[in-house]
Amino acid sequence: MSIQIHRASRADAYDLAKLNRAFNEVDTPVSWIEESLSSPRSPEIVLIARSGGNAVGFGCLMIWYSFCYEKPEGEISELFVVESHRHQGIGKRLVEQLLKEAQAFGLSEIHVMTGSKNEAGQAFYEALEFQKNDDLVFSRSI
Ligand SMILES: CC(C)(COP(=O)(O)OP(=O)(O)OC[C@H]1O[C@@H](n2cnc3c(N)ncnc32)[C@H](O)[C@@H]1OP(=O)(O)O)[C@@H](O)C(=O)NCCC(=O)NCCS
Repeated sequence: MSIQIHRASRADAYDLAKLNRAFNEVDTPVSWIEESLSSPRSPEIVLIARSGGNAVGFGCLMIWYSFCYEKPEGEISELFVVESHRHQGIGKRLVEQLLKEAQAFGLSEIHVMTGSKNEAGQAFYEALEFQKNDDLVFSRSI
C-alpha cells in the first residue's frame, strides 16, 4: 500500500487525536486540534502519513525566532508511526519531509529530543544521521 504524507489540516483533526492518544496517552479535544491547525499564530508544522486513507503516523516541527540567532531554530517535537506500520520507512519519510519544510523556513539545523530510555527512538535518529550531543534538559512544575 502506498504511503501519502501531507500537511495536516482541520480535516485531519480526528485522526490526529487518535494518533496522539496512542503516542502521548492524552485525550486532546478534536476542536482544540482543529483550532491549533488553522491558527495563523501556530509555530508548528504538522505532517500526517496515510496508507490507503488510514492515518498511520504524524510528525511535528516547531519553529521559533530569537534575536540571539540570525536564523530561526527548529525542533522535531513529535514523531509517531503506529506499530503495525513500523519498519517500512514511514518515520524516515516523515523526517525527510519535515527537514524540507525546515529548509524552506531558512533553518540550517534541526533539533530533536528523545527520552533517555527510548533506545529505539535514539537508534532511529542516529540511522538518519542526527548526532547526539551533551545537552541536558531540566524541567520543573510551576
Ligand atoms: C521511532 C519511529 C518513529 C520509527 O518509525 P519507523 O517508520 O518504524 O522507522 P523507519 O522504518 O523509517 O526506520 C528508518 C531507520 O531507523 C532505524 N530504526 C527504526 N526503528 C528502529 C528500532 N526500533 N530499533 C533500531 N533502529 C530502528 C533503522 O535503521 C531504520 O532503517 P532500516 O529499516 O532500513 O533498518 C517509531 O518506532 C515510533 O513511532 N516509535 C514510538 C514513538 C517514538 O519513539 N518517537 C521518536 C521519539 S519522539
